[in-house]
Amino acid sequence: AKQKENAVVASQEQLADGIYSMWIQTQAADTAKPGQFISMYTTDGSKLLPRPISICEIDRTRGMLRVVYRVTGENTGTEQFSKLKSGDTIPVIGPLGNGFPYEKAEGKKVFLMGGGIGVPPILELAKQMKCEKKQILAGYRDAQTFLKEEFEANGELYISTEDGSVGTKGNVMDAIRENGLKADMIYACGPTPMLRAIKQYAEEQGIECYISLEERMACGIGACLACVCRSKEKDAHSNVNNKRICKDGPVFLATEVEI
Ligand code: FES
Repeated sequence: AKQKENAVVASQEQLADGIYSMWIQTQAADTAKPGQFISMYTTDGSKLLPRPISICEIDRTRGMLRVVYRVTGENTGTEQFSKLKSGDTIPVIGPLGNGFPYEKAEGKKVFLMGGGIGVPPILELAKQMKCEKKQILAGYRDAQTFLKEEFEANGELYISTEDGSVGTKGNVMDAIRENGLKADMIYACGPTPMLRAIKQYAEEQGIECYISLEERMACGIGACLACVCRSKEKDAHSNVNNKRICKDGPVFLATEVEI
């Protein structure tokens, strides 16, 4: 098992309402892959379980990871993380999870789709992916389109916003339709309703599709069982085979899981 380690905060900034970006110095940077996450501990003894936070960027040379996360409320672990300053330390464990199989995209026309707080892990994926056509679809609530410049530097970017203030009004699926986009491979991360729509679209079109169910995790270390989901594969003893998203995922072939 991975060891807990004290990471050092290099910088922290706010990107949008409730959305923060932090660079941390950690050994996890040595082996991290796009789509993996780290679990971060609070220093508050009343919250014993860590919070899983997805990796947004990896800088192996400097031994740093960037995490972009949402503060989920007052007196939460994530609120505590947002108050950390350069030089502070934070106990972390990682990298955890399987990550996106980005090497399968070689020679393919790809959709990289992120919605809400599922947008950040798409950035490192876009940076590392080598494919024929890289179409990034990022879905936001409103005009606070965090990470937009970074995405523009790493692919063709199509933005959708729920309030219609930037790009296509609606969600990432509406942006595909409005722009008449086509792909033969999909990688996606975001809220369950968005992933459900993408899974259905991929099945109809016969496109290979990988989805990250990371939003459904709570501790990230296999301790809370909040992340169990049903898998299509049956095992020898029963008709269903439950998977823990934090241990068996968070990335799954869309056809493998029921969501
Ligand atoms: Fe807690 Fe998987 S997130 S067990």
